[in-house]
Amino acid sequence: MKAGVFDSGIGGLTVVKSLLEHNLFEEIIYFGDTARVPYGVKDKNTIIRYSLEALEFFKNFEVDILIVACNSVSAYALEELRANTDIPVVGVIESGVQALLNKTKTKKENILVIGTKATINSNKYEQELHKLDFENVKSLQTGLFVPIVEEGLYDGTILDSTLEYYFKDLNNIDLVILGCTHFPLIEKKVSKFLNNALTIHSGDAIVEYLKTEYNCSNHFENTEIKFFASENPSGLKKVAKEWLKGLI
Ligand code: DGL
Repeated sequence: MKAGVFDSGIGGLTVVKSLLEHNLFEEIIYFGDTARVPYGVKDKNTIIRYSLEALEFFKNFEVDILIVACNSVSAYALEELRANTDIPVVGVIESGVQALLNKTKTKKENILVIGTKATINSNKYEQELHKLDFENVKSLQTGLFVPIVEEGLYDGTILDSTLEYYFKDLNNIDLVILGCTHFPLIEKKVSKFLNNALTIHSGDAIVEYLKTEYNCSNHFENTEIKFFASENPSGLKKVAKEWLKGLI
């Protein structure tokens, strides 16, 4: 089975990491729109337009399924993507919510959703969580974490003061949805700052979702992966080597 993985840039490699760890696909075609990243500060129509252009790119490879690693695209463009292709298009929001449902004991737990401006403004996570009767959901735009991760500042004073800036007034968070491709790289720091709140990681969540909803399983010993980017593909490959060490 051949999967396309789409992201606005390098962040979707966190989702690829989970896919590779579970050997779900024979081949992965990764496309990061590095020329136009970040998507998270753009408006809905722009995100839809860019996503449909990416879909055309994937059509050249005859992928069997398209995985949208980007939360901002999952928030705004899934319907349009689905309307323009016959293959399944899977985003990270449904799977993230499903993973959260599996980790919670009651509907009263305090849930925090963090993501880009686009993801949070779309209200998609909140809508899905409210449909499932979760009562205590708070959403927060935490876009500064994106460049911080891109700069490799996974530790240290800049990250610490940004955590403080965003989270200082939050109490008793039980679970936090890492609603952005970049946040798994600071997962431990986020959890620790929020008194060891449980975290939902898009990559791990989508692996479970693909197994249960699309019958994907650990069939393939090796996954062949090809990386494409709309700008500076060698930069993307360099990050992939670092983030996916031991897997590619
Ligand atoms: N990939 C984006 C997301 O998950 C983060 C980076 C961006 O803003 O493009 O929302």
